[in-house]
Amino acid sequence: MPVEWTDDLATGVGEIDKQHKELFRRIDNLLNACTRGKGRDEVMKVILFLDDYVTTHFSAEEKFMKKYDYSGYENHKAQHLEFMQNFSELKAQFDKEGTGVHLVVNTNYMVVEWLQNHIRKLDKALGAFLKTKI
Ligand SMILES: [Fe+2]
Repeated sequence: MPVEWTDDLATGVGEIDKQHKELFRRIDNLLNACTRGKGRDEVMKVILFLDDYVTTHFSAEEKFMKKYDYSGYENHKAQHLEFMQNFSELKAQFDKEGTGVHLVVNTNYMVVEWLQNHIRKLDKALGAFLKTKI
């Protein structure tokens, strides 16, 4: 099943939603690269891009929070850090084991499910707050 952004994940903030959509598209690329047995270099390229994109995206959200003095900033930022840690573990696992079923399962669990949860709770709350400010 493809990993897709769905309407229920909308935060209502254009820039954030656009980045989330791109994030899901890239994660889908990663899962495809793994399941279609793409070469190690190819998969590593997708992982590195995703790593970079996630960092850019999280700092965009954090900038919004700081700019409007959002009270949930610390908690939200801590979750972003947690994600980055999960993602480093994933990279390490890939380095050790290459693309196997484990990587796909863990990507689904640590990246996809985590993100959907995070967006539904924290990003939507942030979106609602930002809508009153922007
Ligand atoms: Fe977030």
